[in-house]
Parts: sequence; structure tokens; C-alpha cells
Amino acid sequence: MTKPVLKWAGGKRQLLDDLKARFPRDFDATENAYHEPFLGGGALFFDIEPTTGTVNDTNARLVNFYRQVRDNPEKLINRCREFQDPEHDPDESFPFSTTDRSGKDVDSYYYQQRARFNNRPAGDDFDALEEAALLLYLNRTGFNGMYRENADGFFNIPQGRYANPDWVRAEEVRAASRVLERVELYNQDYTYVEEVVSPGDLVYFDPPYEPMSTTADFTKYSADGFDTEDQQSLLEFADSLASEGVHVILSNSGVMYDLYEAESENLLPDTVGATRSINSDGENRGEVEEIIATSVSEESRAGQSQTGLGQFSD
Ligand SMILES: C[S@@+](CC[C@H](N)C(=O)[O-])C[C@H]1O[C@@H](n2cnc3c(N)ncnc32)[C@H](O)[C@@H]1O
Repeated sequence: MTKPVLKWAGGKRQLLDDLKARFPRDFDATENAYHEPFLGGGALFFDIEPTTGTVNDTNARLVNFYRQVRDNPEKLINRCREFQDPEHDPDESFPFSTTDRSGKDVDSYYYQQRARFNNRPAGDDFDALEEAALLLYLNRTGFNGMYRENADGFFNIPQGRYANPDWVRAEEVRAASRVLERVELYNQDYTYVEEVVSPGDLVYFDPPYEPMSTTADFTKYSADGFDTEDQQSLLEFADSLASEGVHVILSNSGVMYDLYEAESENLLPDTVGATRSINSDGENRGEVEEIIATSVSEESRAGQSQTGLGQFSD
């Protein structure tokens, strides 16, 4: 059971038991392949520590981060140890402007690092390790650990307020590195999975959620959103994989229940309650309904087997 390194919008730590209860009973993460095409913070992937499979996300900075965690964990940890507290004065040894892109003063170390992240050099000067270190630092010291970009693609989360933020996460980085080494890591649209999957593999889809309402807009993971048409295509895609004998589990917001029930032939939706770890409105945390749809029949689910064993053990 490895912990996620990053906090990520839509993180699935609260739903882990509900998700694992819907795995096929005979699925063995040390033998069968596992694929997670919308990785984000990867709560389920890191928890089950599969030995083979693929993970993917369209967010290039997130995938660069995981590549560095996988390939250079010690260098990443050492680089992160050099960062200062977010309240510290800006670091004179880095070139920086006293205002950011929107004209606001860069008056703390946090805002300096945010401006550096947003002004990263491209081409030959691109420093993949530095960018990964900055992503982790901003994720652990920014408000609520959110990742959000404005319409121009600039990360725009304000400084958070933490007593003792840990932006190094040495143990988590080392553990995550060992798990990431075993799988292929992609930076593509989720449909890549069609090319790599075989019957008997398990695919967990955790797309950006269709919003419950206009005030709970969870779709803003990055500048490129995931709209209602994308939700429809994903449903057809997942349904077709399931028809080929691939085990499919998919989570989404409660508003999708009717669509899944009406339009999918191979996926059964269930409603589950989950407490959101990140909400766009901090006042409004609490139970929200989500659905988990799966191709795994009730009789062959892992959770079902546990109940069965409990019934018959003495
Ligand atoms: C709900 S989050 C995943 C949360 C994750 N399961 C966790 O526990 O933290 C959805 C992710 O999908 C990514 N994404 C958005 N559109 C995508 C697409 N078309 N293909 C693959 N990934 C996409 C986003 O960048 C985001 O990281």
C-alpha cells in the first residue's frame, strides 16, 4: 500500500474500499495487468501496487513529474530539500521579476517559485528535474494542494497556509518510484489503452467528473476540459472494452447514473457516497454522491467473496 505523492483534485482515497470491492475476485495484482488511463494522484494505482500494466495522463507536467519520481528519486528528493519555507523572502540566486504575469508583486518565496514554474525554459534549457521539483513544492505548499491552470495554461493556485508543510516527501517518493518502475507511463489521450489491453486485464477509468452543479465544477484539471461529449465517448469506449472481456471499473459523479444505466450494455452503475478531499468551495465539503460502474458481475466481485467467507467461517 503506497501513498500518493501528490494531492490531486478528485483524489480517490475515500473510495478505495468501494473500488477494490468491485475488482474481480480472481484478479491478482502481482500477475494480471492493471491500467489507469486518467492517473492524476493515482490513489488506487499506488494502493494496489500492480506489477504490470500502464498509467497515463494528458497533463504533461504531471507525467514529467512521475517520470522523475521513477527515474531520479534521490535527485528529486535532494533538490526538494533545497527549497525554503513558502513565507521566506524570494531567493536572490534565481533570476526573477518583482511582479508576476498578472502584474501582482512577487513578495514571497512561494510566489517566486510559482512564477519560475510558469516561466520555465523550453527547448534545450528545459530542466525536467527542476520542473518536477517545483510541481511537488507548489502542490504541497499551495492552497489545498490543487492543480489549476488559467485559460492561458498558467498554474494559478495561491499560497496555502500550513503549519509544517512537507514538500520533500522522501519516503513517499521512494515508494512511488518502485511502483512506477514496473509499469509503462504514457502522456496521451485515454484511448491509448485500446492498443495495450488484453482480455482479463483490469482498467480503472477515473475521468474528470461531470459537474454536479455549476458551483461544484470539478472539470478544471487543466486548460483542456473534458466535456459532456467526451463523457459520452468514454462511456462507449469503456463499454466496448468490457464487451471484449476486459474488466472495467469507472467512477464518475452521481449525475451520470441515468446515462450509464440507459446507454451501457456491459457496465452496471452503483451509487456510493464519498467525501471530497478537494472542493472548489472550501465551505461546501461533505458527502456527495458518486457512481462506480463496473463490468464485473456482483457474484464475481472481490467484495462479494469476503462477505461469503465471513458467512461460512466459524
Ligand atoms: C479525476 S482526475 C484522476 C484522479 C485520480 N484517480 C486520483 O486518485 O487522484 C482526472 C485526470 O484525468 C486527466 N485527463 C483529462 N482529460 C484526459 C484525457 N482525455 N485522457 C487522459 N487523461 C485525461 C486530468 O489531467 C486528471 O489528472
